[in-house]
Amino acid sequence: MTDKITFSFGKNWEHFLKTLTDEKISIAASSIKNFMGVDHFQDKRVLDIGCGSGIFSYVMFQMRAKEIVSFDVDPFSVKCGEYMKQKAGNPSNWTVCHGSVLDKTFLSPLGTFDLVYSWGVLHHTGNMWQAIENAAHLVNEGGFFYIALYNNIGGVLGSRFWLGVKKFYNKHPFFGKYVIEPGYIVLCFLLNFFRLGTYIKQIMTYKKKRGMSWRRDVTDWLGGYPYEYANVEEVFTFMRSHFPDFQLVNIKSASGLANNWFLFQRKKI
Ligand SMILES: C[S@@+](CC[C@H](N)C(=O)[O-])C[C@H]1O[C@@H](n2cnc3c(N)ncnc32)[C@H](O)[C@@H]1O
Repeated sequence: MTDKITFSFGKNWEHFLKTLTDEKISIAASSIKNFMGVDHFQDKRVLDIGCGSGIFSYVMFQMRAKEIVSFDVDPFSVKCGEYMKQKAGNPSNWTVCHGSVLDKTFLSPLGTFDLVYSWGVLHHTGNMWQAIENAAHLVNEGGFFYIALYNNIGGVLGSRFWLGVKKFYNKHPFFGKYVIEPGYIVLCFLLNFFRLGTYIKQIMTYKKKRGMSWRRDVTDWLGGYPYEYANVEEVFTFMRSHFPDFQLVNIKSASGLANNWFLFQRKKI
């Protein structure tokens, strides 16, 4: 199978923004506040790598960051970021731009940040370890590095299987959208047939997960490619060897295929 990429994260985020509510924004804010144990970013320069819908950048603005830089490689995600910036009143301390975390020429003039946030992004770049390295270099001394990466799961229905599904979806986008997506949704309901009430309730309250939408996340999960993954130990090993001055501050580990969340802090020398 070829490595054709047809899926646009940004188009999916455009759909997501149509159903955005203040409640979802407030849940998104809680996810950052609770994981970091902070309630504002006053005097902080923050960077949102792979800003997607732009809601987390918006939250950073609401948390009174001194400066916010948001970028994404997908032009439709950049449009979403611009939309959220407009929603915030087009503040002059918030820049939304188009760029890739793999492009060192683009990154170098950005400088360093008190927070580098990249949730669910670096594994979609096509070169995850390089992306982690480039992103970590943007953290200033004493600054935080907040990333989430897909877990590495073995077994028949593990990460390798889903890599195949995503490759297939991208190679056959029509089939992906109109057969794989509805098929997956039906399968989810069938597998939960004997606990349907509970399952429907989980879908209805899905926004509690970072303010996200179940339907949009199904599309993101099936189409999101490139796709790489790493278990907690693999990430620790990489960080220890490449960034020994980063200390783990918080972690939320996944039991299945979902994201492991990491919060590191770069030591002050
Ligand atoms: C799953 S979304 C996550 C969006 C957002 N960070 C969030 O937490 O909701 C992944 C995003 O990463 C972006 N992305 C993928 N590769 C990238 C790269 N090389 N540089 C910057 N952004 C990238 C995609 O376009 C997409 O918007």
